[in-house]
Amino acid sequence: MTGGPCQVQFPAPSLSGGAIAGAGAVVNDTPILMSLGEPQHQPPSLLTETLAAHAHEWNKYPPMAGTPELRQAIVDWLARRYRLMPGSLDPDRHVLTLAGTKEGLYLLSSLVVPREKGGRRPVVLVPNPYYLVYNGAATMAGADAVFLDATRENGFMPDLAAIPRAVLERTALFYLCSPANPQGTIASLDYLKQAIALARRHDFVLAVDECYAEIYDRVPPPGALEACAALGHGFDRVVVFHSLSKRSSAAGLRSGFAAGDPSLIGHFKHLRDYGGCQVPLPIQAAATALWRDEAHVEDNRARYRRKFDIAEAAIGGRFGFYRPAGGFFLWLDVGDGEAATLRLWRDAAVRVLPGGYTARASDGRDNPGSRYIRLAIVHDEATLETAFARIRRVL
Ligand SMILES: Cc1ncc(COP(=O)(O)O)c(C=O)c1O
Repeated sequence: MTGGPCQVQFPAPSLSGGAIAGAGAVVNDTPILMSLGEPQHQPPSLLTETLAAHAHEWNKYPPMAGTPELRQAIVDWLARRYRLMPGSLDPDRHVLTLAGTKEGLYLLSSLVVPREKGGRRPVVLVPNPYYLVYNGAATMAGADAVFLDATRENGFMPDLAAIPRAVLERTALFYLCSPANPQGTIASLDYLKQAIALARRHDFVLAVDECYAEIYDRVPPPGALEACAALGHGFDRVVVFHSLSKRSSAAGLRSGFAAGDPSLIGHFKHLRDYGGCQVPLPIQAAATALWRDEAHVEDNRARYRRKFDIAEAAIGGRFGFYRPAGGFFLWLDVGDGEAATLRLWRDAAVRVLPGGYTARASDGRDNPGSRYIRLAIVHDEATLETAFARIRRVL
């Protein structure tokens, strides 16, 4: 305990901490910030047009679960995208809208992590590297985060067969990310089925963060609801998270949803009734329009493909380069991620994320991110060309 009123010590380090905090660029180049996974494309005009058409609704309290129109648009999109049987999702029972997936991913742990599981302190399984919210959510719910290393050796996806039985018996929640941030790996349908079977066998909740599902290179990533449909038994113990932040380049809209196990979704709605944040009606209307439109998503995807073409042409064959199957990050093996980050910033004004800052050493194993840097490939093509030229010069 560090003292003061706070009861919990937050997991460290933060993305901006460590040795790079305070380091200044010593070159005069214009800084290029590739450390943050923030889309740089403009969202389609559909967004602002719909917001404007619903401008008279800012005075109203919005429904917590989402408007019927938005939930129907989401159910229609899920059914189309994951080839689900018509009617298998009910907008009233299976879907809950969120003010972005971040809050939902975080809140879920307080809903499903009990004080004890199997007579012991509960466990939350976290892929390693991870999106920082998973770890924070585990800590704040009073669980032990158990880190499942996702390395080159296991195809950058946690090895499900290697999770000890004693850990599974204590597990209350498993956060899985596909396409994975940062490595871009896509979980196969079989992998998702195995993860669901584990959740059902060991009575824990599987939360699949699919917020990069629409940014992919060649093959649309399968989803956990699709895996549920293939397995039967409905959506028992499974919840997926989707967002408009990446799909529609609308991170500022703060709009996402959770879908899956109806009992879980029902309790989740109650929790959000107390502590959640309603999404304003004009934003729900804009989200409805965006989930109903695919043209802007295809355009977005094509633009990311061109960015990865540029990356491949510039640094293919170096730093263990591979073209990620999904998402918009490069995960480069530079030997020492923190040292490379410092060099890139000081000598080239290119800001990247040291891979070790989004992963951690655990159970006597090395930090699986420490050799890597993460680059968000979000900028326009000319800026990317410049960034890769500088990277080649400095590393
Ligand atoms: C893996 C992952 N999950 C969830 C989120 C949260 O997205 P949002 O809250 O904008 O929906 C992000 C954002 O960067 C992310 O990288």
